[in-house]
Amino acid sequence: MTKVISSTGSSTIRRVFVAGFAVLAVTLFRDMTGSTVHAASQDSAAIKSTVEERIKPTAEVSIAAARPAAASPDASSSGGSSGAANKVGETTYNSLCMGCHASGALGSPKFGDKAAWAPRIAQGMETLYNNALKGKKNMPAKGGNPGLSDADVKATVDYMVAAAK
Ligand code: HEC
Repeated sequence: MTKVISSTGSSTIRRVFVAGFAVLAVTLFRDMTGSTVHAASQDSAAIKSTVEERIKPTAEVSIAAARPAAASPDASSSGGSSGAANKVGETTYNSLCMGCHASGALGSPKFGDKAAWAPRIAQGMETLYNNALKGKKNMPAKGGNPGLSDADVKATVDYMVAAAK
């Protein structure tokens, strides 16, 4: 390249032209990258805050969904009630207790089985609550979910007892 430039008459013009173009290119490039970097950092900041916004409510929802019975506003209103209106009891039973009580697994009194429940109900509700809360032989405390509130477990016992009366 140097040889070609020095051996031709237009070498100086070409060199100036090339140098000028190089300066122009560098200036343009710097401007472009400058503004590009600026825009990119703004974008990533916007993306970051958008992502955080999206992550936040999702996490809250999943926590609430993981504990439907405890988070349910029905907990206090239906506490101690029985039958079809006992939503907390029904939900908790369906999501956890039925794992054993639907089939009578591990020697558990089967859901709706009056004969199996009668002698247990005869113990009194306080005993049933206590055994459901603290556990009894193969019956784990709170059905194995320590995250359940006492009120929810009691409501679930009510629900199961009501179904076996
Ligand atoms: C891992 C299986 C299992 C799960 C899950 C389970 N139970 Fe039980 N449950 C048992 C067994 C077994 C017994 C019988 C215990 C015994 O008397 O030997 C029992 C007995 C009971 C009794 C009668 C206690 C008594 O004094 O006779 C109640 C009430 C009860 N469970 C409520 C619940 C509730 C409410 C849940 C859900 C929160 C639940 N159980 C989840 C296995 C389970």
